[in-house]
Amino acid sequence: MLLETDRLLLRRFHAGDAAALAAYRSDPDVARYQSWDAPYPLGDALAFVAETAHLDPEREGWFQYAVEGRDTGLLLGDVGVNRGDGGRQAEIGFTFAPAFQGRGYATEAVGRVVRHLLVEEGLHRVHASLDARNERSARLLERLGFRREGLLVRASYWKGEWTDDLLYAVLASEWATS
Ligand SMILES: CC(C)(COP(=O)(O)OP(=O)(O)OC[C@H]1O[C@@H](n2cnc3c(N)ncnc32)[C@H](O)[C@@H]1OP(=O)(O)O)[C@@H](O)C(=O)NCCC(=O)NCCS
Repeated sequence: MLLETDRLLLRRFHAGDAAALAAYRSDPDVARYQSWDAPYPLGDALAFVAETAHLDPEREGWFQYAVEGRDTGLLLGDVGVNRGDGGRQAEIGFTFAPAFQGRGYATEAVGRVVRHLLVEEGLHRVHASLDARNERSARLLERLGFRREGLLVRASYWKGEWTDDLLYAVLASEWATS
């Protein structure tokens, strides 16, 4: 176990997660603003798990937390952290299975990860970049106190179209007083 909340356990991925990961990444609504296309094959999920399962969460680069429901033991989603800038800043991303959206699980998991980074690990800043149409993700970040810092207009060519990117961030000093 790496991190926990009242309802959630945040841990490394393991091979038993691959089918659930492939299932939620295969939902077109989940994949819409993400880097993969739906359907997401089981083989890709197995490779993802094999690549990420043994990474050190404190090293620079991406680490993926698998988010498990305490009461069911089911995989609900994941939170990604990309540490950079000599470990002083991190980018985050998050994905939850449709069946487990709308219950506050993602806010609870992302909030726990951000607290870990800013308070327990002493990072300076955590940031996220979203497709500007991704309203649920924007709402999640605003609920947690992230500041909308910018809109990059038609800045990314993504899945056959130019898209707008919304930038969000929170500083450790802001998190401490929120
Ligand atoms: C982004 C994503 C994780 C957000 O999921 P979500 O279900 O909206 O977020 P939460 O789990 O925190 O749930 C919050 C919602 O549950 C409601 N809710 C119900 N019970 C709740 C509780 N006990 N506590 C908090 N919120 C609760 C909230 O009111 C909120 O609804 P609202 O946004 O309509 O006001 C999800 O939409 C997703 O996986 N999208 C696809 C992947 C993606 O695009 N990721 C972003 C790339 S960075």
